[in-house]
Amino acid sequence: MFPKMQKAIKYKTRSQMLSLIPTCGKVAEIGVFRGDFSHEILQTCHPTELVLFDLWPDGPVDSGDADGKNPQVFGGSDLEKSVRLRFERSSHVRIFKGCSSQIREFPADYFDAIYVDGDHSHKGVKRDLVNSWRCLKHGGWLMGHDYEANSDKTNISYDFGVKDSVDEFCWQFGEFIHAFGMDGQVSYAIQVTKKNRLYYGRLYRIQIHLQRLLKRSLRKIQRFF
Ligand SMILES: C[S@@+](CC[C@H](N)C(=O)[O-])C[C@H]1O[C@@H](n2cnc3c(N)ncnc32)[C@H](O)[C@@H]1O
Repeated sequence: MFPKMQKAIKYKTRSQMLSLIPTCGKVAEIGVFRGDFSHEILQTCHPTELVLFDLWPDGPVDSGDADGKNPQVFGGSDLEKSVRLRFERSSHVRIFKGCSSQIREFPADYFDAIYVDGDHSHKGVKRDLVNSWRCLKHGGWLMGHDYEANSDKTNISYDFGVKDSVDEFCWQFGEFIHAFGMDGQVSYAIQVTKKNRLYYGRLYRIQIHLQRLLKRSLRKIQRFF
């Protein structure tokens, strides 16, 4: 009844973790920045289609590398221009400027892999995971960055909402993390099963309902005393 938990495989880096993605598939990246990791996906996975989503807002945008080090800041419109220039000869690359929610315009069961690295808030990550899950094929890979810090490689730890969001998503959708890419900022890889969704969705709703009931009862008890 519960999804079979296996010990997650640890790859040294997210670049190595890309070996999980079948070549010549359809891949998307949410949160592109300068397109460095998009370029790696292109070189490693040889996708027939690589779809890139980034907000590239007018103001400054900052990002570090896979370890969360060497932060850089650029203007959003400069980043967009440089990414368009970088991939202008790659006919397999499609670029979408704007919120990652645009991925909902793609059909269900479309992508073989999606890498989530855009809005790092709890709400933003959850939204990207849920939308991406729908667009992934059964057996496809839902990956993302900044799950947690790897203390073997860095002492920088960011207070993102990523880990809580990913764990909550896994519980709600009956999925589990299959692999980690152990850079300084750890990446995760979930192999989407799409089998347990209804059952776990119901369990999740029951859990939320019970939590609310419990909170209300505790408040009543506190008032009483
Ligand atoms: C950490 S950077 C991405 C780094 C890139 N994945 C890499 O590894 O080279 C995050 C990017 O997400 C973009 N972003 C933030 N919120 C977004 C949203 N709601 N939709 C799309 N992109 C978003 C930012 O503009 C920024 O370029």
